[in-house]
Amino acid sequence: RGSPALRVTEWSDLVDWWPALGASSEKYSRGVVGVATGSATYPGAAVLSVGGALAGPTGLVRYAGGARAEVVHQHPSVIATGRVADAGRVQAWVCGSGLGTGDESAAELRAVLAAPVPVVLDADALTLLVDGKLADRLRGRDAPIVVTPHDREFARLCGETPGEDRVAAALRLAAWMNAVVLLKGDRTIVGTPDGRAYVNPTGTPALATGGTGDVLAGLLGSLLAAGLAPERAAAAAAYLHGLAGREAARGGPVTAPDVAAALRPVLARLG
Ligand code: APR
Ligand code: MG
Repeated sequence: RGSPALRVTEWSDLVDWWPALGASSEKYSRGVVGVATGSATYPGAAVLSVGGALAGPTGLVRYAGGARAEVVHQHPSVIATGRVADAGRVQAWVCGSGLGTGDESAAELRAVLAAPVPVVLDADALTLLVDGKLADRLRGRDAPIVVTPHDREFARLCGETPGEDRVAAALRLAAWMNAVVLLKGDRTIVGTPDGRAYVNPTGTPALATGGTGDVLAGLLGSLLAAGLAPERAAAAAAYLHGLAGREAARGGPVTAPDVAAALRPVLARLG
């Protein structure tokens, strides 16, 4: 605190940043988000990340991956294909959760990175970056990248654990990757390549349950596709995700689908 480059995200920030969605908005002008997550082995990751994306402000979600049947069954409004290359135009991609780390998954990640739009990279996409030694190659990409590691994913990307100073850690990785870093934890940190950071005040231990990270990645993709700047999208996603976790916890023990469902009433307060 004290430094203008480090701030705690506030509700009034979200009100300022929120895309103005007029009554005349139609689905394409609200943005289209593509979700390349999940697999036959991990269909739940796809369902959860698509659930997060559907709760966001975009008008349309396209899914590309190996869990089409489950996604469409759970979310009938989604347009689903098997491959990123067949998905059609989107304004942002989310890639990684439950994707797998084989050659086909790597090809899908490459297709996502080739699209000239902002991308969210989570979970297996981060593993693929490390295994393929691609993390520093993201520097050449023009469109923004947001990576969403938890501590172990951070350690694999960075070669060291975040340590005590999590803000410094997020900023180090952001500068090295030339990406916005959302470092997950009880106080999630968002760091930018040019040295600005946001601390999220809404976290709750209720979120410490499998799959909530997938919901977060989907929501973040929707905010990017709706046109928020990457660091704002990341800070807003963490903030709203925390509020949704608290909201869900009022009903008892929380599962990841509860968090996705609780995003709706939370986002409704932003109009
Ligand atoms: N306080 C506040 N927020 C928390 C806390 C806490 N104590 N613990 C976790 N969270 C939040 C994180 O900030 C993040 O938003 O919960 C979310 C968890 O996301 P991930 O760590 O990505 O976990 P997720 O992918 O949902 O769960 C799958 O299974 O195979 C493992 O490695 C995989 O840990 C991962 C888990
Ligand atoms: Mg995760």
